[in-house]
Amino acid sequence: MAREQWATRIGVILAVAGSAVGLGNFLRFPGQAAANGGGAFMIPYFISLLVLGIPLCWAEWTMGRYAGIRGFNSAPAVYAAIWKNPLAKYCGAFALLIPLVVYMYYVVIEAWCLGYAIDYLNGNLMQVKDADGFSSHFSDFVGAGENGALLTGSSPLVWLVIITFICNFVLIYRGITKGIEAFCRIAMPLMAILAILVLVRVLTLGTPDPAKPDQSVAGGLNFMWNPDFATLAKPETWLAASGQIFFSLSVGFGIVINYSSYLRKKDDVALSGLTSNSMNEFFEVCLGGLITLPAAFIFMGMAAGEQGTFDLGFKALPNVFALMPGGQFFGFLWFFMLFIAAITSSLSMLQPVIAFLEEGFGLKRHASAALLGLIAALGCGFVLYFSKGLGALDTFDFWVGTMLIFVLALIQTLIYGWVFGIHKGHAELHTGAHIRVPWFVQLIVKYVSPIYLLVIFIGVCATTGPGYVKTMTENPVVMGSVAFIGTVFAFLLLMIHIAGRRWDAQGKFENIQELHD
Ligand code: ALA
Repeated sequence: MAREQWATRIGVILAVAGSAVGLGNFLRFPGQAAANGGGAFMIPYFISLLVLGIPLCWAEWTMGRYAGIRGFNSAPAVYAAIWKNPLAKYCGAFALLIPLVVYMYYVVIEAWCLGYAIDYLNGNLMQVKDADGFSSHFSDFVGAGENGALLTGSSPLVWLVIITFICNFVLIYRGITKGIEAFCRIAMPLMAILAILVLVRVLTLGTPDPAKPDQSVAGGLNFMWNPDFATLAKPETWLAASGQIFFSLSVGFGIVINYSSYLRKKDDVALSGLTSNSMNEFFEVCLGGLITLPAAFIFMGMAAGEQGTFDLGFKALPNVFALMPGGQFFGFLWFFMLFIAAITSSLSMLQPVIAFLEEGFGLKRHASAALLGLIAALGCGFVLYFSKGLGALDTFDFWVGTMLIFVLALIQTLIYGWVFGIHKGHAELHTGAHIRVPWFVQLIVKYVSPIYLLVIFIGVCATTGPGYVKTMTENPVVMGSVAFIGTVFAFLLLMIHIAGRRWDAQGKFENIQELHD
């Protein structure tokens, strides 16, 4: 079978940026910044970007292309090609588990966005009155009141999830070039246009209520960015910042390493990696950071800061759109933009597992997509069923979308820095490169990133770990969700084990062809 490859350089950059730019940029980022010291959050945020995000992203691009041109695409095979140790391929289980489990709840939030976009289009959301109305609308829509509420009644959300699911699988089935790349080439510019239109609307709101002169655009920006330095003493702030960087860049997810395995030997990775990161930061800081929270502040004042991520995005913002001139139109643009942003990201969460099923078991695309669809639907059904207080969704997000990303990021820094080797990494990174990356970046990946990751991780386990374990043992849905994640992990380990035996029988890793110029 011919090796799949990206068709164009801009295509791969847009695909990686598409994976990065998503709900994390527009919903998670403002929520995290507001909860963790406003402007002060940007200090650990940019430190994490420079010390973890960008260096690790380059490491993933480098290892991915290195393994890809030698015929390996899925993380278990990539790690095994780099690290000649029987354990290597099992590390790949994290790089499959993370995208798979994040997909299970991400696609549900994606469907929320589609639902809100449709409800703006048909005017339903404009009928809702006041903050309480939006709050109960959201609660009913997502089934937050009762477990099973969505699956017993005639909930529109279940249908929206099915539609969203089908969109994702149709695109992924079309493959790297015709599916992911073709879609991202259209979706990324469209997202930028839609987000800029909403931004211009927010920045021209002035002071809608003259009786409240503080609640102006300037007041909103000040509120978002006003630093509270006291939060910097808490390890949670640093975890939140680095977790946000990973989630947002899709680094430590197992995604970039898979996407970059479809590059050619001389394709640039240094500038491409940097460009896709920069695009992500533009969407996150300049668009995500300037729209959600400032807009909420203009209409709600200080109460805007007391909202969690979903409250801000699905209760406060719709209330804001209800109050602003042209709110129905801009509400539609905003939620439709979120929906597209989410699709380009959720697609990238499917590809790593598809690649593994194809590579590990010799499955054709339709068989691997069908099998993955079945597993993902099971998890999605779990999230939809245990909807009370968004219990399953929050647990998946905490354990997999936050904690496990740290674990995988650590594994990857170690494999790159200590096994692959930074001299080889530096040379590989510069093959076909359009820019020069300073040598100290390699030293950062080898020494600074792992220590930084470990310190934050241990700090958080020590401070919030005991409290979390107590909550967990008291809440059966949280326990059940953790057990579900554990079962998926065990299943992936088993699959990797079986695939590994197949690979051994084929002698897949015996003579890894060292490609020279
Ligand atoms: N990187 C994706 C996001 O930010 C997962 O939503």
